[in-house]
Amino acid sequence: MDSTTHVDFGEQVREFIKHVFTQLSGLVVSGMIYLGHHLGLYRALGDSVAVTSEELAAKTGLHERWVREWLRGQAAAKLIDYHGDGRFALSPIAALVFANENSPAFAAGAFAALPQQLGVLEQLLESFATGVGLPYDAFGPEGARGVEGMLAPWFRTMLVPMALPRLNGVVPKLTEGAKVADVGCGTGVALIEMAKAFPRSEFHGYDISRHALAHAEINKQYACLTNVNFHDAQADPLPGDASYDFITSFDCVHDMAHPAVVMQAIRKSIKPDGTWLIADINCKPTFEENLARNPMAAMMYGFSVLSCMSSSLSEPGGAGLGTLGFSEPVARRMTAEAGFTRFARHDFDNPVNAYYEVRP
Ligand SMILES: C[S@@+](CC[C@H](N)C(=O)[O-])C[C@H]1O[C@@H](n2cnc3c(N)ncnc32)[C@H](O)[C@@H]1O
Repeated sequence: MDSTTHVDFGEQVREFIKHVFTQLSGLVVSGMIYLGHHLGLYRALGDSVAVTSEELAAKTGLHERWVREWLRGQAAAKLIDYHGDGRFALSPIAALVFANENSPAFAAGAFAALPQQLGVLEQLLESFATGVGLPYDAFGPEGARGVEGMLAPWFRTMLVPMALPRLNGVVPKLTEGAKVADVGCGTGVALIEMAKAFPRSEFHGYDISRHALAHAEINKQYACLTNVNFHDAQADPLPGDASYDFITSFDCVHDMAHPAVVMQAIRKSIKPDGTWLIADINCKPTFEENLARNPMAAMMYGFSVLSCMSSSLSEPGGAGLGTLGFSEPVARRMTAEAGFTRFARHDFDNPVNAYYEVRP
């Protein structure tokens, strides 16, 4: 073998092991983000002034030795800047992502239910053998709160001011007084944001998760709204009476065990001139394209096994679309099969989601 064809097998193994441990590093650092979020460490660092571990411990009422180790790990992960002399700070960008809950870029909430999300791993050993997944509520109340942490920043900052005005004729109807449903409403943040903005309209949230619905009621009380109602979709389903002007479903079609059935119910419940806004994961139509062009594919397939595909396979005959399974061609086909005739895709400045405006 000449020098140009020589392959250093040992070096390749070392490189691959490095790659493998990068995955473990991501997991452990994610756990540290969970701690920083729940302990208020990021919030305390939010003003971007460089502090020592003693100062941060005093500000948060935590134990200095633990705070110091956390800060060092965060600096090593390049999430927090080290300024020398034992001083650490969030950059302005990191402050938006970790400390400012009113920023559309806020991402710390996405780590809020990490222990619960990973806590199902042992149960999933059985799912791989039986084919039966875990229901959405398997994550407990924290699971629903965790999804809220991931999705609420966009609802609070972009849905009403940016997205709704781009839908054909929806805002004038909502301003005048319309009937709106959010199907798969989770903890109700999207519905509540719309209800606050359009007091003449009535808003109905439908979900099958008792944990999400319980938290939605708390969110409703906190917002002091009288134009919002939440419904357990199993006991009190969509009425099927062509009464809704506007229906939304955010990041839930791919989670559903029977999405085609829900789509038919939405079709029956929407007015002939109504609008259905679907948000789902921005994905490519084929695995090969996701592999080549979707930088979040590994994380998404992981979330699929942990949660999305799992909940979709938790009932007999479940569709099991998976987190990356409701691509635009699938959305076009399934909405057409449910009886919708108009379909337009929107870009609402959210790399994670694709948005479809669907009409009868
Ligand atoms: C990823 S969460 C999204 C929740 C919410 N739309 C949000 O954006 O925060 C998916 C939701 O779909 C709900 N879901 C699943 N199947 C459903 C069904 N058949 N009818 C209503 N909701 C359903 C789940 O219970 C869960 O709350």
